Amino acid sequence: MRIDLAFAVGERDPSEFDGKTVVVIDVLRASSTILTALANGCPEVIPVAEPGDAFALAEKYGRDQFLIGGERKGLKIPGFDLGNSPEEYSKEVVAGKKLIFTTTNGAKAFLEAANAAEILVGAFLNVSRVSSYLKKTDREIFLFCAGKEGRMGLEDLLCAGMIIDNLAFAVKDESVELTDPARTGMFAYRQIAGMGQMVVALTQTDHGRYLSSLGLSGDLRYCGQVDLLSVLARLEEGRIVMATEVGGP
Ligand code: MLT
Repeated sequence: MRIDLAFAVGERDPSEFDGKTVVVIDVLRASSTILTALANGCPEVIPVAEPGDAFALAEKYGRDQFLIGGERKGLKIPGFDLGNSPEEYSKEVVAGKKLIFTTTNGAKAFLEAANAAEILVGAFLNVSRVSSYLKKTDREIFLFCAGKEGRMGLEDLLCAGMIIDNLAFAVKDESVELTDPARTGMFAYRQIAGMGQMVVALTQTDHGRYLSSLGLSGDLRYCGQVDLLSVLARLEEGRIVMATEVGGP
């Protein structure tokens, strides 16, 4: 089993994802929001790069057919139905409603990795579910941390490190080949593992502090919950849906 890791959107040539099982990790908050929406009955999430793409897509197929959600600078975009706080995506709001979604980094990671063999969604919320699925894959694994505007985000690195730690324990350390970035993630996670709640680590990250400054510290408490959702989600033909256990293009 070989595992690589990208620290941020834009860091790698997209061809590096080809043929691999990619896990897009944006703990704060795109991955956490997508998983919550799906768990609450949203049938599909369509990631798009820009707000203008979201409006154009909704107009093309009928504005009343979709919810439009996401953020810029952490805040809801004018004209959108929802922002990027996962708890906005409750059953009452999203059940049965398709979602078009754009965020600064996370949504773009799905588009950048589009030619991968398979693209999954990873966050602390579903870390064990993703890890147990990855244990069974024969493909090379690529943990794609969304980061923040081209730079590493510690919250994503810690989540990737937790997945790697789970895999290394399950598969026997010596049969897992880790690239240097992947090993960095594992070391970072092992350094803080057992030191208390993940939420505490999230409050110390750059993006965690930024969200708190916007009055969104409730999102940190929510996104720091390990294994709240037993959801496996996969990008299929441009749409993120609940995945069946086996599969992937
Ligand atoms: C992103 O994709 O950059 C985000 O999820 C940022 C955020 O809304 O916290």
